[in-house]
Amino acid sequence: MRQHVNPLSRFFQQPLELPQPAALFSDPALPIHLDIGCARGRFLLGLAPLQPQRNHLGVEIRRALVAAAEEERRGLGLGNLRVLFCNANISLEAWLSALPADQLELVSIQFPDPWFKKKHHKRRVLQPALLLAIAAALAPGRQLFLQSDVLAVIEPMVALCEASGCFERPAGDQQPWRRDNPLPLPTERETFVLSQGLPVYRVLYERNSAPLPTLQTLEEWLEAADNPATAPAAAPAATTSQ
Ligand SMILES: C[S@@+](CC[C@H](N)C(=O)[O-])C[C@H]1O[C@@H](n2cnc3c(N)ncnc32)[C@H](O)[C@@H]1O
Repeated sequence: MRQHVNPLSRFFQQPLELPQPAALFSDPALPIHLDIGCARGRFLLGLAPLQPQRNHLGVEIRRALVAAAEEERRGLGLGNLRVLFCNANISLEAWLSALPADQLELVSIQFPDPWFKKKHHKRRVLQPALLLAIAAALAPGRQLFLQSDVLAVIEPMVALCEASGCFERPAGDQQPWRRDNPLPLPTERETFVLSQGLPVYRVLYERNSAPLPTLQTLEEWLEAADNPATAPAAAPAATTSQ
């Protein structure tokens, strides 16, 4: 199976209308955990029975993985889990903005594809528009969890979250990296990384009540941060909503 797809290719730029909770879950009113880039879904297939008080939605850009995860989910009869095919950068924003207020409890982005080459950084999943869509959908106190085994990947994610001004770390969390996983199960990538004795870098954020910066402000900040030789990357002031 192909390990990576290019999310910027024309095929993956087509927006998909993702079904709302009423069409996804047995009890659509439950709080939602959204896992972005859930791959084959084994983490969510294990988590959903452990956390029946939440609905879990995985989104994944590789269709064959989604089909396999959904087949297994149906076999297990899990009504609080769905795995959907989409490009998170294209199709999540509309879905998130249509959710009832404060239904989104947790968003996780775990071991995202690294796209190491600088010319490929725009393929990375946590882009300014997605971060703002997540921040807009999370009520104050609701959480965003990030983890990776690659410092060069998680550091810009952390810098982007902090530049947005919309997130704080819970009081008492270790810095710069949280020692423990707040989730009760490891992902597939996490299991592999830990089995190799390699480090995992984790950050848990809580949405604060700050207004969102504009998309343009955050994009300009990222451009400057990615090109430090050409422009200074001062943190943007959070002044207006999108
Ligand atoms: C390295 S894997 C990690 C999978 C899983 N989270 C884990 O920790 O085992 C990253 C996953 O994100 C998916 N992905 C990458 N870009 C995406 C996008 N724009 N939208 C949805 N999924 C994406 C990839 O296809 C891949 O399955």
